[in-house]
Amino acid sequence: MVKLHDLYFKPFISAKELDGILTRLVQELSDDLGDEVPIFIGILNGSFMFVSDFVKKYPKPCEVTFIKLASYEGLKSTEDIQRLIGLTQDLTGRTVVILEDIIDTGNTLHEVHRIFKNEGVKQLLIATLFYKPEAYKKDFKLHYIGKEIPNKFIVGYGLDYDGLGRDLPEVYQIKTTQHMTNLVLFGPPGAGKGTQANFLKEKYNLIHISTGDVFRFNIKNETALGVLAKSFMDKGELVPDQVTIDMLEAEVEKNADANGFIFDGFPRTNAQADALDKLMHSKDSQIDAMIALEVDDEVLVKRLLERGKTSGRPDDADENIIRNRIKEYYTKTAILKDFYTAQDKYYGVDGIGSIEDITVRLSKVIDKL
Ligand code: IMP
Ligand code: MG
Repeated sequence: MVKLHDLYFKPFISAKELDGILTRLVQELSDDLGDEVPIFIGILNGSFMFVSDFVKKYPKPCEVTFIKLASYEGLKSTEDIQRLIGLTQDLTGRTVVILEDIIDTGNTLHEVHRIFKNEGVKQLLIATLFYKPEAYKKDFKLHYIGKEIPNKFIVGYGLDYDGLGRDLPEVYQIKTTQHMTNLVLFGPPGAGKGTQANFLKEKYNLIHISTGDVFRFNIKNETALGVLAKSFMDKGELVPDQVTIDMLEAEVEKNADANGFIFDGFPRTNAQADALDKLMHSKDSQIDAMIALEVDDEVLVKRLLERGKTSGRPDDADENIIRNRIKEYYTKTAILKDFYTAQDKYYGVDGIGSIEDITVRLSKVIDKL
């Protein structure tokens, strides 16, 4: 996913698919033009990558030039098209092929026809990489079309949104669903995860999904997934990842218009992390960060023993059990730290200090996502 200015775009057409489209277009044109030496005219700025790749593939002699027209402001086509760099060469009797990046309303194409009307060309052919049939309002013939696309704004491969995105080697489509911020929150027992999750969900209006709570809820309410999960637990078996993921999906589904989610207690394995990525992608979204609260072991032990005095939780009273739980946490989460580090999404946050200080540190990470 890419963010340009205020908008988010998702992958739409890969570099490989673009290459295939160009190969086909080149083939069609070179078959039709035979031994004629065409003049390819690119319409700047958007067509620069398309023209470059196109002429590199063109198997026979050809000429290449550009004209610069401007018709777009932000996301909207404007009626007012200005010709910025015009034609400087004699085209009398020549075969001219216009190479357009995209034909949307057809306003630019109208101007192109106006420009070439009095040039005495032998023929004027229009080739466009992308074409939005739902937006097209003219009836000029389009001789060659790379790909018909829905009427949604795209960027990349020469196309921009307010100046940005032209350099991307593949094409991205605007995301119309709301952008979410999704976090995986980690921390050893006693790190203050629960406390911080409560602050963060208020501050960023996120839904806190604690896998433990989700499990207990489903089992207690005897939902189909709860009954299924319990059948594994009763046999002393691990609940399969897919069952857990299905439960989480139901939670995500319930909160479809959320600003995002804090996942707590999940994922625990690479397979689960993969499954969570898939779930997020199916929602047009992604995990943005794994945030881990880092607290020194000795501090944890002290905190938990302190908590044990009042909480009455037996696992908080025994120092050996505490140390074991901490050790287990590091063994289990090391894989996930690697998983998210590989995606550049791991953020370790110092978990020692006042609750407010730690919230500020966490917020700094989230605000930059
Ligand atoms: P038309 O004049 O409305 O046909 O639009 C043609 C020009 O608008 C293109 O050359 C682009 O510069 C721009 N344009 C149209 N649709 C898009 C889009 O989805 N992304 C980026 N630019 C676009
Ligand atoms: Mg253009």
